[in-house]
Amino acid sequence: MAQLTIQPSGTVVDVIAGTPLLSAILAAGEKIHHKCDGKAECGSCHIFVLEGRKTLPRIQKIENEQLDALVGVSSKSRLACQTLMGEEAVTIELLSFV
Ligand code: FES
Repeated sequence: MAQLTIQPSGTVVDVIAGTPLLSAILAAGEKIHHKCDGKAECGSCHIFVLEGRKTLPRIQKIENEQLDALVGVSSKSRLACQTLMGEEAVTIELLSFV
């Protein structure tokens, strides 16, 4: 279990390692686009990882390909549906608001 801080709201929740960040964000009551329901096909769940990026599992090929197709991607970018929570605290920023 590790702490996930969700910006810009500042919501903090405890998340079990291995949980997709998209699931954790929705369970926390936050709103985020997820048009393809987590299949890495739409890119609408694009987030920035502000802190703890290196504690998260590495980007896999399917996520990397989808990120390559997006505008505004940076080294902080991840897809919430493809990123699993790690064992340490992480702070993310939601970029799309529903
Ligand atoms: S929900 Fe579509 S890529 Fe994440």
